[in-house]
Amino acid sequence: MLTDQKLQSLKNIILESSKDELIWMSGYLAGVSEKNITSSAPPVANEIALPTEKLTITVLYGTETGNSKKIASKLASVLKGKQHKVTLKGLDQYNADNLKKESLAFIVISTHGDGEPPAAAKKFYDVLHTKQHDLSNLKYAVLALGDSSYPLFCKAGEDVDAKLKAFGATQVLPLEKSDLDIYAVSDAWINNVINNLPTAANALLPKPQNRQAKNGKRFYKGVVKTHINLNDKGSLKETFHIEIGTDEAIYYLPGDALGIVPPNVDEDVSEIINLLGAKKHQKIDYKDETLTLFDLLKTKLNILYMPLRIVEKYAKLIQSELPAVRLDLKNILALYPFNKDVSLEDFIAILEPITPRLYSISSSPYAHGNNEIHITVARNTFSVNDKTKYGFCSSHFAGLNDGDEVTFYINSNERFHLPDTNKDIIMIGPGTGIAPFRSFIAHRDDEGAPGKNWLFFGDQHFATDFLYQSELLAWFDTGSLTRINTAFSRDQKEKLYVQHRMQQQAKDLFKWIDSGAYVYICGCKNTMAKDVEETLINIISEEGKLDRKEAEDYLSRLEEEGRYAKDVY
Ligand SMILES: Cc1cc2nc3c(=O)[nH]c(=O)nc-3n(C[C@H](O)[C@H](O)[C@H](O)COP(=O)(O)OP(=O)(O)OC[C@H]3O[C@@H](n4cnc5c(N)ncnc54)[C@H](O)[C@@H]3O)c2cc1C
Ligand SMILES: Cc1cc2nc3c(=O)[nH]c(=O)nc-3n(C[C@H](O)[C@H](O)[C@H](O)COP(=O)(O)O)c2cc1C
Repeated sequence: MLTDQKLQSLKNIILESSKDELIWMSGYLAGVSEKNITSSAPPVANEIALPTEKLTITVLYGTETGNSKKIASKLASVLKGKQHKVTLKGLDQYNADNLKKESLAFIVISTHGDGEPPAAAKKFYDVLHTKQHDLSNLKYAVLALGDSSYPLFCKAGEDVDAKLKAFGATQVLPLEKSDLDIYAVSDAWINNVINNLPTAANALLPKPQNRQAKNGKRFYKGVVKTHINLNDKGSLKETFHIEIGTDEAIYYLPGDALGIVPPNVDEDVSEIINLLGAKKHQKIDYKDETLTLFDLLKTKLNILYMPLRIVEKYAKLIQSELPAVRLDLKNILALYPFNKDVSLEDFIAILEPITPRLYSISSSPYAHGNNEIHITVARNTFSVNDKTKYGFCSSHFAGLNDGDEVTFYINSNERFHLPDTNKDIIMIGPGTGIAPFRSFIAHRDDEGAPGKNWLFFGDQHFATDFLYQSELLAWFDTGSLTRINTAFSRDQKEKLYVQHRMQQQAKDLFKWIDSGAYVYICGCKNTMAKDVEETLINIISEEGKLDRKEAEDYLSRLEEEGRYAKDVY
């Protein structure tokens, strides 16, 4: 296609370029070729001239683990480099009512939970969904970040894009969705944004790109080397310390999480195949693979606690009435039998992939080497009709034995990494929240980091639930752990939690924070993290002599500076 001379020039450029430059170039070329393709479409062609005027642009991001912020910041800096007037803001700091005053906005937003916006974008998302807005003056584009292993891929970005459109805003670019290999899509998107900046009068809508999202996950295969219950006899809990060894080196940093798509239980899969009247070795095409029905149901599709949207789809498929109740697939099929007139393929098509589960990594590549990785898994327990039941993935981990295989990937968490070695850190991690902090302390211990380390840990009972007790106390003895405060909630009449210990240490805590310490919280999102944050605000207010609003602003500033980070679930 290219002349020899052109091909040689291209090869020379490629040879001299770094990986990052190659990724940037691929995005740039995608943008250029998109522009050329679009320019052959007559109505739009004349409008694709780069604007000479300086535009006022708002770049917004909604993030949980930092990816969206990174991309939005990159876009903002490229736009600033082109002399446009740019405001960059996190959606937690942005009032959605202000959108009507904007002329041009670019939004990067990820999806979390089960198709939900990141916690920091929830208020913005809710205001968009509960109020009417006239956005006829707004031109915009949305980049949605997600992971195609989740059933609702990029749902929050889709919702925001749809709402802006419904309120009369004009798309400058079609909604773009990015899988985990964020740079492949985001660099091209940034180029598209630059190439398609509207003039004040025109908004351009290039043809949608049918980009096939690539997952971008790198899976590692490992083997369980150690599997121990950290809770002693008599504890109400089971928390497993699991070490997984690999032949190939694993690339991760303290603060990252291990991701896994847990396999379904053989008996459940066989029961479902019986209820379907199907054959386990029957071959099924699924995405870009062909698998036996058994393997498909075991390793790819969710068959537990079916979401109501699937119950509704199944009711439609078998043309029957089903109550809006979440049940396992085997129970649904037993109660509301599969209709033989429906094809197996149509049935498979309504099912969703198994949702990946994440576990904060509790090892350090420095201290433990690159060929092993540790996690700290609490067996999830709940009750249904007074019967005790166990979570799917945590039970899978609980039931593993030495030598069992585990396939996993690394989910990096940019916002939860260690700062420079000389910085002080405060870690608040009760229960399994200790996991990343075991990694942090081991890492700093190994590298002899001069920064001070203060840990708040809590659980139910000192005698049975002091996870990693001997290691933590050994680090305290050698000075790698500068301070440790524990709260065992059920060892006395009054419940005692980490936030109470923090309050008791208010003076010193504030001194550390005000002198530049980094604050990390890990563990339970709904109760612990909220109470701890509230306590931090109180401490900042009391010790810093600030009113509540000023104390909240102080904490927000810490967060903005990357000095206050949460890994909560
Ligand atoms: C960034 C991150 C880090 C994490 N780190 C850790 C960690 O270090 N250690 C750790 O232990 N966990 C961690 N988690 C949590 C972990 O990912 C899982 O969410 C947890 O183990 C529960 O998963 P599960 O599959 O065992 O439970 P699931 O089967 O997903 O069940 C979860 C809940 O769903 C409900 N439920 C499920 N089935 C039914 C049913 N049939 N009927 C009624 N209700 C039902 C129950 O309320 C149950 O408690 C982390 C999560 C995130 C996002
Ligand atoms: C707990 C959790 C739940 C997630 N749920 C979804 C989901 O429902 N749909 C999706 O497309 N991606 C989901 N993701 C993937 C994230 O959107 C993806 O990792 C993204 O790059 C994160 O960007 P951020 O760092 O800006 O938050 C989930 C990730 C986590 C950790």
